[in-house]
Amino acid sequence: MEVFRSKSAVRAQLADWRPAPIVLVPTMGFLHEGHLSLMRLARERAGASGRVVASIFVNPTQFGPGEDFDSYPRDEARDFDLLRAEGVDAVFAPEAGEIYDSKAQTIVETTELAKILIGKLRPGHFRGVATIVTKLFNIIRPDAAVFGQKDFQQLAVIRTMVRDLDMDIEIIGAPIQREADGLAMSSRNVRLLPEDRAAAPVLARALDEAETMAPTGITASRLRSHVRARLEAEPRARVQSVDIRDAATLAPVSGPLTRPAVILLAASFGQVFLIDNRVVHPAQEVS
Ligand code: PAJ
Repeated sequence: MEVFRSKSAVRAQLADWRPAPIVLVPTMGFLHEGHLSLMRLARERAGASGRVVASIFVNPTQFGPGEDFDSYPRDEARDFDLLRAEGVDAVFAPEAGEIYDSKAQTIVETTELAKILIGKLRPGHFRGVATIVTKLFNIIRPDAAVFGQKDFQQLAVIRTMVRDLDMDIEIIGAPIQREADGLAMSSRNVRLLPEDRAAAPVLARALDEAETMAPTGITASRLRSHVRARLEAEPRARVQSVDIRDAATLAPVSGPLTRPAVILLAASFGQVFLIDNRVVHPAQEVS
C-alpha cells in the first residue's frame, strides 16, 4: 500500500494506474469497522483490476469554533495497518498546509441542505464538507466514491453537489455498521465515559421502536414525540434534535407516513456529540 502526503505524488501514481477504475473512500481516520465496510464496497466497485484509494484528513474547515477538532482521535499507524489488511491500494494523508492555501477564497455549498438539521446545529459544517470533498475529488479524480449512510445528511449533500455541479462521479451509499448493542460505530465512541457508553445505545433502541411503529399508520408528529420521550428518559443523553423527514428529499413530513421517512437523531453524552438515523417505511406506500 502506497502512502502519499502530497497532491503531486498521489496524482502521479494515479496517472500511472488509469484507466483502471479508481474508487475513493474519504475519511478522517481513527478507522473502525464502519470505515472498513466502505473499503470493501469500494473494492467490489473497483474490481480486481481497479484501485481503491482511501484518504485520511481531519478537515479543520468542517469543525466550528469550540467543536472537537483538537481532541478528534488520531492514530495514523493503526489506520495504515487496517487499510493494508483490507487490500487498499493507496492512502492520501496530507497535512493541512498541503490542502489549504491561506489565500484560498472559493467554497462549495449546497445552499439549502447546508442550513437545515445538522447544518443548524453546526453552522458552516456542510460547507466545510462539500469543499473538502470537492477538493479530494479534484485531486484523486475517482470514478466512484463511497460514503456511509451513518451521515445521512452528508450523503445527501454530496449527492446534491455532484448532481448540481455535473461531477462525473458515481456516489455509493453504504449501510450503517453497529456495535453488538446497536450503537452506531463512530470514531468519537472511544471518547465516551463508561457510563455514557452504556447509555448511548438508547439512540438505536429508540430507532428500533420507531421502525416497528412506522407501519401502524402513526403520524409523523406522534412518532417523533415517542422517539424524543424515549431519549429524554435517558438522563445521560442531552437530546439535540429529533427529526422525521422524507427519506428521498429531507423535506419535512406531517400526518400519517405515506412514503419512506428518515428519523434523524443527534444527542450529546458528556462532551461527545453522536448522531444516528433509520429509514422507516409505512405499511403501504401512497404515490
Ligand atoms: P468520517 O467521520 O471519518 O467518516 C468517513 C466515512 O465513513 C463517511 O462516509 C461516514 O458516513 C462513514 N461511516 C462512519 N461511521 C460509519 C458506520 N458506523 N457505518 C457506515 N459508515 C460509516 O464523514 C467524514 O469522515 C468526513 O465528513 C469526510 C466525508 C471524510 C469529509 O471530511
